[in-house]
Amino acid sequence: MTQHQCLLIIDFGSQVTQLIARRLRELNIYSEIRPFNAVTAETLQQIAPKAVILSGGPASVTEAESPRAPQEVFGLGVPVFGICYGQQVMMEQLGGRVEAGHHAEYGRAFISPAAGHKGDGIFNGLFETGREEVWMSHGDRVTQLAPGFEIIGTSPNAPMAMIADEARHFYAVQFHPEVHHTANGRKMLENFVRLAGFTGDWTMASYRDEAIALIREQVGDRKVICGLSGGVDSSVAAVLIHEAIGDQLTCVFVDHGLLRLNEAQEVVSMFRDNYNIPLVHADESELFLGALEGISDPEVKRKTIGKLFIDVFQKYANDIEGAEFLAQGTLYPDVIESVSFSGGPSVTIKSHHNVGGLPEKMGLKLVEPLRALFKDEVRALGRELGLPASFIGRHPFPGPGLAIRCPGEITRDKLEILRKADAVFIDQIRKHGLYDEIWQAFVAILPVRTVGVMGDGRTYDYACALRAVTSVDGMTADYYPFSHEFLGETATRIINEVKGINRCTYDITSKPPGTIEWE
Ligand code: XMP
Repeated sequence: MTQHQCLLIIDFGSQVTQLIARRLRELNIYSEIRPFNAVTAETLQQIAPKAVILSGGPASVTEAESPRAPQEVFGLGVPVFGICYGQQVMMEQLGGRVEAGHHAEYGRAFISPAAGHKGDGIFNGLFETGREEVWMSHGDRVTQLAPGFEIIGTSPNAPMAMIADEARHFYAVQFHPEVHHTANGRKMLENFVRLAGFTGDWTMASYRDEAIALIREQVGDRKVICGLSGGVDSSVAAVLIHEAIGDQLTCVFVDHGLLRLNEAQEVVSMFRDNYNIPLVHADESELFLGALEGISDPEVKRKTIGKLFIDVFQKYANDIEGAEFLAQGTLYPDVIESVSFSGGPSVTIKSHHNVGGLPEKMGLKLVEPLRALFKDEVRALGRELGLPASFIGRHPFPGPGLAIRCPGEITRDKLEILRKADAVFIDQIRKHGLYDEIWQAFVAILPVRTVGVMGDGRTYDYACALRAVTSVDGMTADYYPFSHEFLGETATRIINEVKGINRCTYDITSKPPGTIEWE
């Protein structure tokens, strides 16, 4: 989909492969991640990469059947960079040797340049203090270099920490330059891509223009419907598509009655007033809340909401005559095929809510203009498109909404109390200037009532839990370290301002072992 210079990342299943693409995007370089077993000679021809990076991975090249890179990669005449498992694959496939059974090394290490070696170009701006802090994670080790390679950097436990065949611009490292803990990892990758001749031609302004041209080409004069959740992804997708095809786009916003205080009005007015985008506001709260009555099992709640959502969306979409396309805010992390070595399916922790299944059911084709982007890039595109900053910076909000912040049975009373408490908490966070530091913050209303005393009277009301986490991608998270003053002030405000709550707790569970939402 792009006419940009492309770097191909061949994935061997490392947990951190996506970070390689992230680092490259920060350098305005377009990259694509492909599983090692999906790269054929044709793929290479089609992508025409200007350079290749071989990722890390959990396997051992010394084991039979362990993954290899397509041998053609080394004959493309473009620079190649191997990381950890990628280094070992390079050595194995280019005539060196790798052995298992060495002392495994995990975590922090320091590398220094090999004696007398200048590391032409690849060392640019590095080793200014004589050594670099890097993050290692490996068991095997290269014991014999492939012809043409020499050692350019070493660490006490990894004599071949950095090796290179500079004539061919082949580089390989035993550590992970893509992770945060490798202090100058981004600089190393930058040196590599500069040597490979990348100019950094991937910008949001160019992405926007190309995406618009592609949407016009795909859709022609036909119609598109877009399910809006009020979240950043579907909003940015809708505004982008509207810019491309104007009123051929209709958005459908399903209000399931599980939104936050004033949220429905905010979403509707943002689309109708700011953008004049045709919008169907489907207020189906009675239907959803009715169906949820008496249900307290988290998975049953999620499935009930997910199924109804699809039915309702379909009902409204059917009224939009001639719609042939469904727009979705699918992001790059959802698209990348994950490489599984265990072969087994992963455990379902929570059934996630989306409109999956709809396109086939309704015979719709998909328009997914954000497929190549990471979350923070969607935000950058949103800014490029002029969406209000307050909208772009909003914390993520789950599809099942407040239902999963109300453990146990959902009642309208509880939802009402929860909305008010949540609004006070978010107001406190904004007033203290903390909103942008926090990945997500919300209140959960607990299915317990506790005794309190207010004035001279006894109270018997609900307890609530405040949740605020820091995270990069929602996959792992830590609780936000509010000051005691902040927590005390917030609890006092909630208990004074929200009738129905008389006790407030702060959830200090990280993820894992907890999850961000309560259900
Ligand atoms: P958990 O609770 O699994 O949440 O740690 C991780 C992130 O995902 C959001 N979340 C959802 N988002 N549909 C969504 O669109 C869902 O069903 C859903 N469940 C959780 C959650 O808010 C957090 O940001």
